[in-house]
Amino acid sequence: MQTDFLVIGSGIAGLTYALKTAKAHPDKNIVIITKTQADETNTKYAQGGIAGVWDEEKDSYDKHIEDTLIAGDGLCNPKTVEIVVTEGPERIKEIIEYGARFDKDANGDYALGKEGGHSENRILHHKDVTGKEMERALLHELQNTTNIQLLNHCFVVDIITQHHLGYLVTKSTTDITCFGVYVLNLQTNKIDTILSKITLLATGGNGQVYRTTTNPRIATGDGVAMVYRAKGRIENMEFIQFHPTALYQPGESPSFLITEAVRGDGGILRNKQGEAFMERYDARKDLAPRDIVARAIDNEMKKNGTEHVYLDCRHMDIDKFIHHFPNIYEKCLNIGIDIAKDMIPVAPAAHYSCGGIKTDEYGRTSIQNLYACGECASTGLHGANRLASNSLLEAMVFGHRCYLDTVNRVNDITFETGIPEWKIKGTSEPKEMILITQSRKELEQIMSDYVGIVRTDMRLKRAMKRLDLLYEETEELYRNTKVSPQLCELRNLITVGYLIVKGAEFRKESRGLHYNTDHLEKSALLQNIIL
Ligand code: FAD
Ligand code: SIN
Repeated sequence: MQTDFLVIGSGIAGLTYALKTAKAHPDKNIVIITKTQADETNTKYAQGGIAGVWDEEKDSYDKHIEDTLIAGDGLCNPKTVEIVVTEGPERIKEIIEYGARFDKDANGDYALGKEGGHSENRILHHKDVTGKEMERALLHELQNTTNIQLLNHCFVVDIITQHHLGYLVTKSTTDITCFGVYVLNLQTNKIDTILSKITLLATGGNGQVYRTTTNPRIATGDGVAMVYRAKGRIENMEFIQFHPTALYQPGESPSFLITEAVRGDGGILRNKQGEAFMERYDARKDLAPRDIVARAIDNEMKKNGTEHVYLDCRHMDIDKFIHHFPNIYEKCLNIGIDIAKDMIPVAPAAHYSCGGIKTDEYGRTSIQNLYACGECASTGLHGANRLASNSLLEAMVFGHRCYLDTVNRVNDITFETGIPEWKIKGTSEPKEMILITQSRKELEQIMSDYVGIVRTDMRLKRAMKRLDLLYEETEELYRNTKVSPQLCELRNLITVGYLIVKGAEFRKESRGLHYNTDHLEKSALLQNIIL
């Protein structure tokens, strides 16, 4: 199969790009690949909303830019921040035109919420299910578009480069080029070759590398791992954002999120003793940026020997709560928590990857004809810590920018010839699934115990040693067994774990989301760690 435009991922980033490209090129076919169902994405689970300067009387681009830079703790690329903040509102208007509905107040104006680190109310939302609404609108628009082919249940295993033509490709090769992908079709169980002129990775996050995460099962860092294997550049992977308030429900995976917007509307964090502890940690209290709140909760839990703290909403207007957060209200009620009377047990959970595939201001990666946007990319917007609700915005802005760069370039690219079929690796079916499931549990354990919110040199060293062993065992399994999504995801997650630990080892300072008690000071040198 061959296509001019190949999009891997059907979340907000991939769909934004695909729709724009399809409209600009009605004569060309755009293929979108997704490893499960089209709407099973991180996007679908987004709750709080999308940040954007909307009320220009109270808010301004400068304020949104400043809030983003403060959260990013010195490592944001100011140019990228300006691009996203100033172009964002246009992109939001476009999705409203596709039919996305955001809540309005009694005057018919958009009801703007507030979250940690924002100096103004600027979060557009649809109840507490904003992502589901945005995904719905994008997929609906897709149905009205005739030149997009959506391939569900197809797992992209690797991107194809000169390496597959027999050339030596190393990190210092300057003209690595992407010719397409190898994809495991889960209906036929065969690996197909798809050639493309332009390939866009929009594969989302990697929260599944941790034991406790808000991310759905698809979030296994496949795009990052593929680019790393292809010798492309990966940046700042140590900056993993832990959301402070995931519902504490042992055994439930992924963890259900209690959106930060609940604190924006007045929810208060309390410890075991009932103390509103955030005032001891930061003047912004419960609405301090996420790294600060998550570390404070971690500290309270360790001090009190508890596995969670509480989010207290009992003083809030319950009718208003139900109106804004119907999904959270229902979820809590279903497990016996009446928000009007009971506090909600919450604990931090891995939530967002600030680093990823290094891209420039048009989403170009270090590999030619390969673009990346959305959570898998590192654009420079988030620096050392993402400001809440900036990621849906970033995905749309960069989906658009990738489109701008590729819309005409495609005519100068020809399909590569002579790409070999995928060599069936090994002869045996994966008989012992336990080898894969057990290794995945070990990986999650290692990352959660040694590479979580608080790190030390010793923990990182230990994590790396354990990862080395898992890597060796998994590579052997990969060489001798038929490829399966489970095995590929394990392999990708180990690579992601390695990149997080390696980045954390190189960063001899505490900055933003990376906190190492052996290096508490910030380094004078502002450094992006590129692997
Ligand atoms: P995704 O939406 O995750 O899509 C990834 C796609 O890639 C999927 O279609 C998947 O099938 C596909 N894919 C991955 N690997 C492969 C492969 N190997 N082969 C084929 N297909 C593949 N951000 C905000 O700004 N505001 C919020 O309120 C907010 N709330 C959040 C709440 C939760 C619970 C979570 C988990 C995240 C939240 N975020 C929020 C973050 C935001 O939702 C994500 O960063 C964003 O949706 C990512 O979009 P994406 O298009 O990059 O990837
Ligand atoms: C939330 O709703 O708290 C999540 C927002 C985000 O991750 O940006």
